[in-house]
Amino acid sequence: MMMKGVWLALLLAASSAFAAEPPDKGTVLAAPCAGCHGTYGASPGRLTPVIGGQQQAYLKKSMLDFAAGKRPGSVMANFAKGYSEEQVAEMSTTIAGWKWVNSSHAPKRAVKKPADYVTCAACHGDQGYGTAEGPRISGQTRAYLLEAMQEYQSGKRDSAAMEMFKGLKDKELNQMAAYYARQK
Ligand code: HEC
Ligand code: HEC
Repeated sequence: MMMKGVWLALLLAASSAFAAEPPDKGTVLAAPCAGCHGTYGASPGRLTPVIGGQQQAYLKKSMLDFAAGKRPGSVMANFAKGYSEEQVAEMSTTIAGWKWVNSSHAPKRAVKKPADYVTCAACHGDQGYGTAEGPRISGQTRAYLLEAMQEYQSGKRDSAAMEMFKGLKDKELNQMAAYYARQK
């Protein structure tokens, strides 16, 4: 009778030790991103985008484009190198699963809805939350949104979907960046 009790205690101790499972591969791979993109990808910076809760396919494409030199990145051009496609997919799935937290870098005052809103919504979703076709843009940092749009405007960042930006004026880009940064 006594022995049975000891075994039971041992069994319980062992099972509770197993309850604290090691983190999955994606979580391990995404750990160093927090240094710049913030905890759970909720970036506190002006020019470092929010990535937590971003569309998975877009995160993956971005990392692969940075690594291949297809997309300019002051930091990411180097940082994205050295991961296998499988590792990029794993970290993207983990990061996409985090909750999106709106950037605090948004204008305080209301901004007029851009004239092209309906066009943008076709790919970026009605609220700018992103779709399988385009990334989430609402609640992103204002300065980063402007920088991204200027890269499409100048052709530094190549995208057939964003081709229309080549004909847009700085004033329009400023308004759209301010508008989407405020969208929650
Ligand atoms: C040293 C700082 C730093 C680290 C570390 C870092 N990033 Fe970045 N990341 C940036 C900056 C800054 C940008 C904006 C583009 C640029 O200037 O390179 C960016 C842009 C991105 C983008 C583009 C987002 C968008 O909306 O287009 C993705 C995706 C991304 N990073 C993923 C990651 C992942 C995943 C990791 C970890 C494996 C990581 N980053 C680590 C600074 C960093
Ligand atoms: C035909 C689909 C389509 C339309 C229309 C479109 N976009 Fe995009 N947009 C995309 C895709 C796809 C990307 C990502 C491309 C890439 O990989 O660089 C993108 C990227 C962006 C980015 C960069 C996001 C980031 O995190 O770096 C911004 C900002 C943006 N779009 C804003 C807009 C706005 C504002 C409009 C309306 C004026 C618009 N887009 C219209 C498909 C579209």
